[in-house]
Amino acid sequence: MKTFVTGASGNVGFPLIRYLHQAHVEIKAGSTDPVALGTRLPVEVECVDFDFLNQESYDAALHDVDRVFLMRPPHLGNPNQLYPFIDAMVERGIGFVVFLSLMGIEKNPVPPHAKIEKYIRASGLNHAFVRPGFFMQNVSGVHAWEICRNDEILIPAGRAKTSFVDAEDVALAASMILQDPLCHAKKAYTITGPRSLDYDDIATLLSEVTGRTVTYRKPGFSTYRNHMLKVRKLDRTYVDVTIALYFMTRLNTASKVTGDFERLCGKTATDFEDFVIRNKGKFEKSPE
Ligand SMILES: NC(=O)c1ccc[n+]([C@@H]2O[C@H](COP(=O)([O-])OP(=O)(O)OC[C@H]3O[C@@H](n4cnc5c(N)ncnc54)[C@H](OP(=O)(O)O)[C@@H]3O)[C@@H](O)[C@H]2O)c1
Repeated sequence: MKTFVTGASGNVGFPLIRYLHQAHVEIKAGSTDPVALGTRLPVEVECVDFDFLNQESYDAALHDVDRVFLMRPPHLGNPNQLYPFIDAMVERGIGFVVFLSLMGIEKNPVPPHAKIEKYIRASGLNHAFVRPGFFMQNVSGVHAWEICRNDEILIPAGRAKTSFVDAEDVALAASMILQDPLCHAKKAYTITGPRSLDYDDIATLLSEVTGRTVTYRKPGFSTYRNHMLKVRKLDRTYVDVTIALYFMTRLNTASKVTGDFERLCGKTATDFEDFVIRNKGKFEKSPE
């Protein structure tokens, strides 16, 4: 029997494949572009065409599978878009589902993850929730654009602190949970990095590692929204969900540091400084 990994090309799904493979777990990986995924993956794994919005893709995805790593693609802002797949897992008797949720969701009904958690609980599926803080990969990914071009961090989080976590650590935690359903059934884990930093701290770390002066000017929501929509031309739903998340961050909901990663994985979570050094190439200066 196999573990089906949704979002296998994503921040958590991609390293999760590696960790499950190392643990000799049989894996099936889902992507809307399985050929591209197969060429990117460092290990040989069955890759299938999978789209939450195409129910015809569910059969091949769930055939011969007993565990599922479930993530919500960031641009699917409506929880209803995941319900048909959750129903399909129930119909096919999937034994254990690990859902990639969000830190603090137990007290915040606004992000789609809250309704998805509720739906999974009500479905009767055996499950566990992984609730990470903000990924360090947001800074080296979507937000590297402004850092590389303008030496600026353009994130509307004010002075708030965030307990950034390396998505690789989230993947390692998810792989430990997926391998032991008996131990983790109906539990929720808040996975964070080892310390809380504000974006001035991140600018200082980036300046030290890159040798340039990276600044953080505390942009407001409208500056951020205009830039992300008009200059970056990012998806409107995605941008609006991120604004809601940065609004919550300003209310100090993203700063908690927990010991869940260390308890699950037996080691300290990655520090932001080590992450920046490891990913220095992603912050190289690019032309205007
Ligand atoms: N980023 C954070 O800081 C953070 C923190 C806590 C929780 N989370 C949550 O973690 C989840 C993942 O976030 P992320 O930012 O790390 O994103 P990500 O993994 O980069 O997400 C993109 C993934 O979604 C897949 N995907 C896109 N459209 C799809 C579709 N229609 N059907 C199936 N798969 C589809 C993509 O696969 P293909 O393109 O290969 O199909 C890709 O693997 C989100 O729910 C987010 O809210 C994120």
